[in-house]
Amino acid sequence: MSVTAPIQTGPGEANVDGYHSFRLGEFKFSRDEYFVYVEWPTGKHVMSADAFLRALQRDVAWQFFYGIVNFDGVVGTVNHYGTVDLFAGRYNDVYRKAELDHLENFSTALIKSTFEEMLDDWTNDGFDPFASPTETGSAFGIKRGNNRAAITRHRVTAARMVSMPGDEPLRTNDNGHPINRHFLDVPQDEPVKEAEPGFEAEVNAFNFFAYLSRSQVTWNPSVVSVCGDSLYCPTTEEYILPIIHGNDRVEWFIQLSDELIWQVEDRDTGAALAKVTMRPGDVAAMPADIRHQGYAPKRAMLLVWENADPDLPALISSGQLPSVPIVI
Ligand code: PHB
Ligand code: FE
Repeated sequence: MSVTAPIQTGPGEANVDGYHSFRLGEFKFSRDEYFVYVEWPTGKHVMSADAFLRALQRDVAWQFFYGIVNFDGVVGTVNHYGTVDLFAGRYNDVYRKAELDHLENFSTALIKSTFEEMLDDWTNDGFDPFASPTETGSAFGIKRGNNRAAITRHRVTAARMVSMPGDEPLRTNDNGHPINRHFLDVPQDEPVKEAEPGFEAEVNAFNFFAYLSRSQVTWNPSVVSVCGDSLYCPTTEEYILPIIHGNDRVEWFIQLSDELIWQVEDRDTGAALAKVTMRPGDVAAMPADIRHQGYAPKRAMLLVWENADPDLPALISSGQLPSVPIVI
């Protein structure tokens, strides 16, 4: 059965549902009430509009992240840290063997601005792509306003650590961070801090669980502490990670509360590799040659530990470093 052709629009002109189309090289993106269509010279693809917008939101907010951001098993981006590949079918064995895959490289500035415009045009009033499905309105229907406040919200990236003087602040009701409905039982008391005189700007501590209990977003690792290249990127999860992340380095996961199920696949072919169920206290290292997608039945706290060393992707792809953290 063929995919319904999207309604064609000229530059600057909206389709009958009120949405604009976007071009990047030979790729064309369009949406209607329910779906997003992606076309390239050798194929076309359809995704649900809500899943597409959740993935697009993360790609934009994370500046294309580490490695590969697959929107699903067909379409996605590869970050080359200065330029970005946009691909269809490149990491899908069936498309590759049929020679239907397509890949184009763009400057980060161009793909970022196009994706930002698309996210802005296609996100309706009341739909927050970062929120869990039960905490937001519908992505569907004809064009209905916008949700600029949600899609451009501040991403926490601490310079040293959340709560340090001049750095990212702690979260409170007053700065728009009430405790999430699933974390009402998390104690909110803060530690007593007694820095030696002269070290008040160097020593600090805060209640990490209380901080996370006030996260308004899902599947959005944010940098809360930095030590050289070591980044602590905690996040609260609910429903499904909207992207399938293809690693270009090892990442560590520490499960802080509740439960996550990870589906792990070969990064390049999509072949199924493993299912990992993580419960509080579980620690996993995700290898540099896999891709993964998480499922959270209830809101869960996860600590993602990243190594931001910019030399890692080349060291791993050239074989100078292994794809796993420990070779036994
Ligand atoms: C990941 O791909 O490693 C990842 C992304 C977003 C999350 C958690 C993990 O919220
Ligand atoms: Fe990942």
